[in-house]
Amino acid sequence: MFAFSLPGLLVSLLFTLLLRPSSYNIDIFTSTEASPRILLLTAHPDDECMFFAPTLLAIQRQDPAAEIYSLCLSVGDADGLGDVRKKELEGSLDVLGIPAGRRWVLNHPQLQDNISVYWDAEVIAGVVRPYIVEHAINSVLTFDTQGISSHPNHISLPGGVAHLISSLPEHNSSTPSLRLFSLITVPLAQKYIGPLSPLLAKLDLTLNKFIDALNPTEAELRPAVPAAAVSGLLEYRTALVAMQKHWSQLVWFRWLYVSFSRYMWVNEWREVIPSTPTAQTLAAEDPTPPPKR
Ligand SMILES: *[C@@H]1O[C@H](CO)[C@@H](O)[C@H](O)[C@H]1NC(C)=O
Ligand SMILES: *[C@@H]1O[C@H](CO)[C@@H](O)[C@H](O)[C@H]1NC(C)=O
Repeated sequence: MFAFSLPGLLVSLLFTLLLRPSSYNIDIFTSTEASPRILLLTAHPDDECMFFAPTLLAIQRQDPAAEIYSLCLSVGDADGLGDVRKKELEGSLDVLGIPAGRRWVLNHPQLQDNISVYWDAEVIAGVVRPYIVEHAINSVLTFDTQGISSHPNHISLPGGVAHLISSLPEHNSSTPSLRLFSLITVPLAQKYIGPLSPLLAKLDLTLNKFIDALNPTEAELRPAVPAAAVSGLLEYRTALVAMQKHWSQLVWFRWLYVSFSRYMWVNEWREVIPSTPTAQTLAAEDPTPPPKR
């Protein structure tokens, strides 16, 4: 009988594992005293669905009250398609559940889509800052310093946000008012294993949860525990639908990407803690003269 055959059992086990989404520690983005307001900071239209979809969907699943915002620093005009790509981004963010009014795309002369240019941290900090302040953002999610695909525009983003955080007047690295999280770039060998990645990641997460359950003190002591979001089939499908909104980008190699890339299924995160500026730099930046005695 099929139900008792080993291949049948294996297939249904694999299918169940693929079907269900899973996450680990994703509440580090939302565990704040104020209401959670999370900003996804990207460099180009399509970053949001090619790299960050598992996390966007996991946060909405886990904490429907969390407000998610999206700021894309360029229109992706390297091939002159900026106007088209800007519209495509709207369609993709509709699919990913980030409504109009919580999403912006910039076209700044010093932050243009260019595969050979690093963006200046101070410029990034300057353009991002008003969005953080106006919408009382508590967490920024962006790339890490390897930028997933080593694109220098991606790589520039965490440095820009770190610069912004350490320049906030109330910044204190032991009680940060704004937290920065980076999407971890995995080694190339793990990058394109497609549907195998959620299976392996879920196994890893299950083991982590098991170890934490056995040893809760150690779990609490561990600094900046990485967080992870793993998509199920439904979430993967949503990411694909969002990707299809970027029709100008869907050349054949992108189809290969969406079929095999790990980031369509799995996101892992680490917190970046910018250093607290020294008293001298603070004094140097403070325009008010010290009180006279
Ligand atoms: C990218 O930057 C390089 C170096 O600054 C420049 O030569 C090139 O024209 C730029 N490409 C585009 C598409 O703007
Ligand atoms: C930062 O916050 C911690 C805990 O609230 C406090 O003990 C420390 O004095 C603060 N440091 C600065 C530089 O404000």
